[in-house]
Amino acid sequence: MYSSLILLYLLGAILVSGQQKCYNKSTDFYALTGTRTPYHLVGGTLERPKKKCEPLQVWAIIRHGTRYLQDYEVPEYGIDGLETIRDEIVENHKRGAGHLCSQDVEKIRSWRFTAHIRPHDSDDMTELGHYEMSSLGTRLKNFFPEIFDVDSDQVTADDFQFQATNFTRTIESMKSFQRGFFGKVLEVESKVPLTNDALLIPQKQCPAWKKKNRPADVNKERDTFTNGPEFDIIKREVAEKLGYNEPLSFEKIKPMYEMCRWEAAWFPNETSTWCMAFTKEHLKYYEYREDLNYYYCCGPAQRLSQKLGCLTLSDMFNHFESKKQQVPDEPRGVFYFVHTLSNQQLMAALGIAKYPEFDGTSYSTAANRTYRNSFNAAFGTQLMAIFYKCEEDEKSPYKVQFQQAEKVIPMDGCDDEGLCDWEYLKSKFGRAVQECSMDVCYQNLPNRTTPPIYF
Ligand SMILES: *[C@@H]1O[C@H](CO)[C@@H](O)[C@H](O)[C@H]1NC(C)=O
Ligand SMILES: *[C@@H]1O[C@H](CO)[C@@H](O)[C@H](O)[C@H]1NC(C)=O
Ligand SMILES: *[C@@H]1O[C@H](CO)[C@@H](O)[C@H](O)[C@H]1NC(C)=O
Ligand SMILES: *[C@@H]1O[C@H](CO)[C@@H](O)[C@H](O)[C@H]1NC(C)=O
Ligand SMILES: *[C@@H]1O[C@H](CO)[C@@H](O)[C@H](O)[C@H]1NC(C)=O
Repeated sequence: MYSSLILLYLLGAILVSGQQKCYNKSTDFYALTGTRTPYHLVGGTLERPKKKCEPLQVWAIIRHGTRYLQDYEVPEYGIDGLETIRDEIVENHKRGAGHLCSQDVEKIRSWRFTAHIRPHDSDDMTELGHYEMSSLGTRLKNFFPEIFDVDSDQVTADDFQFQATNFTRTIESMKSFQRGFFGKVLEVESKVPLTNDALLIPQKQCPAWKKKNRPADVNKERDTFTNGPEFDIIKREVAEKLGYNEPLSFEKIKPMYEMCRWEAAWFPNETSTWCMAFTKEHLKYYEYREDLNYYYCCGPAQRLSQKLGCLTLSDMFNHFESKKQQVPDEPRGVFYFVHTLSNQQLMAALGIAKYPEFDGTSYSTAANRTYRNSFNAAFGTQLMAIFYKCEEDEKSPYKVQFQQAEKVIPMDGCDDEGLCDWEYLKSKFGRAVQECSMDVCYQNLPNRTTPPIYF
């Protein structure tokens, strides 16, 4: 009996050694993929202050839910070249090169580009994207019953303000949010036009931004990292795993990474084919690289972004001050459906997630950076400000708490649960709000190779 067990064991060992280890998502995949991270991986749990406070108004900018690729992105990411890469990998395996197990090669062989274009009967968002929005609507309604327990049939245009940018994915996000919140899409005419891109996409109307700060343009820190030792590891190890004789270029690997994270967002319960090319560590390097990209092009390190963020900041401030002054018809909730950059701009204006020791050579020390797109720019992420009245604080009853992805944001000068005195916020940001204008877009700023750091 023992001998047959040993025989079996030996046989097993021989079979395994003749084969490569197969990819196992639960041990080999790292799910924080920056701006393509699905919300359920990072969303927190809404919180109320411990003090006795009554919510008066909720103001939020909400990034659209998980979406499909746009047609123009396919060549932009080089995804149209993936079928060629697929065939090369299969050939490499045939001649015994690479470290993929045969089942994984089979998955790659059967990968088809066309299957990954958005289904014809859908809008830009995936089913999960719609769910991200509707469930957020439901959670918010239930969490603030003092202001949100309304009869959907009686809701009027003054009760809520909804606005989306002029894109299918944001308009659909708004509708799904309303379905979760009211049980239906609101039919009331919104007080403001549904599309107001000057407020929500100011960079579109900003010549200075177009000239100098497009994300795809020069970004020294991102490029330092891309040309550094971490990406050398990716170029070498991905080539080895897929059976290429020499390290692959950044451009050749890029579409595999992009498809990996898109597929991971679209099919959360499956193993995405292209992720099999990468180790967890590789995916962390990519996450870091995208963080550098946004931090310097459009986030806290970008002066122009900070300036443009004053538009949504002013809007928030005007609403809260009107609420405090009991202006009639001031809505209970103000909800904007937007894109990554609106979020980055408002973060920059509020000074959220500044992390000075973060650059193209600091990967090993900036692992715990507060700026992280997987958390602050995932699909469906919101930046929310809640205006409270806390009677027990007689001197300063009006307060604001900020939350991002349903997690309290710690703010300088505020208490340990992120609750800020309204008067303090007004003194801190009053000038930015007062002086808010798009003039900066028309100033003739000198050319520079990298945006200035401006905290
Ligand atoms: C993948 O790894 C997990 C965790 O170690 C393990 O439980 C699971 O059985 C593995 N799956 C396969 C298919 O090997
Ligand atoms: C919204 O976008 C569509 C095209 O996508 C355009 O035809 C329409 O004029 C835009 N509406 C506004 C208000 O900008
Ligand atoms: C993934 O699996 C979970 C749990 O089985 C299920 O509730 C969910 O609907 C699945 N998601 C998709 C997109 O299929
Ligand atoms: C990041 O945080 C983790 C957990 O708190 C800690 O173990 C690790 O040392 C930190 N890394 C750096 C580089 O500070
Ligand atoms: C700034 O850049 C533009 C176009 O890139 C160029 O035409 C112009 O000469 C530059 N100006 C200066 C002062 O270098």
